[in-house]
Amino acid sequence: MSQHTHIPVIAIDGPSASGKGTVAQIVADRLGYHYLDSGALYRIVALVARRQAIDWRDEHALAEMALQLDIRFDGNRIWLGNGDGREDISDAVRTEEMSRGASEVAVHPAVRAALLDLQHSFRQVPGLVADGRDMATVVFPDADTKIFLTATAEVRAERRYKQLMSKGNHANLADILQDLQARDARDRQRSVAPLQQSSDAELLETSALSIEQAVESVLAHHRKSQAK
Ligand code: DC
Repeated sequence: MSQHTHIPVIAIDGPSASGKGTVAQIVADRLGYHYLDSGALYRIVALVARRQAIDWRDEHALAEMALQLDIRFDGNRIWLGNGDGREDISDAVRTEEMSRGASEVAVHPAVRAALLDLQHSFRQVPGLVADGRDMATVVFPDADTKIFLTATAEVRAERRYKQLMSKGNHANLADILQDLQARDARDRQRSVAPLQQSSDAELLETSALSIEQAVESVLAHHRKSQAK
């Protein structure tokens, strides 16, 4: 990136089911920015590994595969492959099993490194909203606006529960809470790029906020950073 073409980035990190994906997409829409759902990349790695019979613990094989991923994002849809043989894997990566797989493959440093260039390639004019765990700390450390968006585990479990029920899925609140806490612990405790609030990020606690209030808050922080 030359100094003449600074492309603004809004980095939004936070734990699972915090609502950061929803907030990030709305912010991107309002600003006309591109959107990177970095968690989807780890989900894709977990899914493709499962299909190619690569063990989620096999760091080297996972990283090799991640470097060769042939994927396209198109609005809310994720495509694997291209031409007539392409497949819409948007729903396949959203299962609870792939949530777990993503969290497991994401512990490997070589997998994280293999996905860096792909993530950087999303930074295009007029700007990018990137959501994940390490957007502000590792992938876009020079982001203009850094937000750590969270809510209590109980509020997050309830949001996920309502979302599943509204889609007609059977769900158990206690199981969801337990799963979330296990995933939080794994994401926070891994040695590489753990989930943590960057020292220069704004904390946005959304337990008592509506989506619109959270969106407004992110936009206000971004306006402030762009006015500097
Ligand atoms: O945001 P998500 O729930 O789709 O992410 C799935 C998993 O991927 C999550 O448990 C941790 C991992 N992840 C990561 O390690 N780094 C990111 N930037 C995004 C997700």
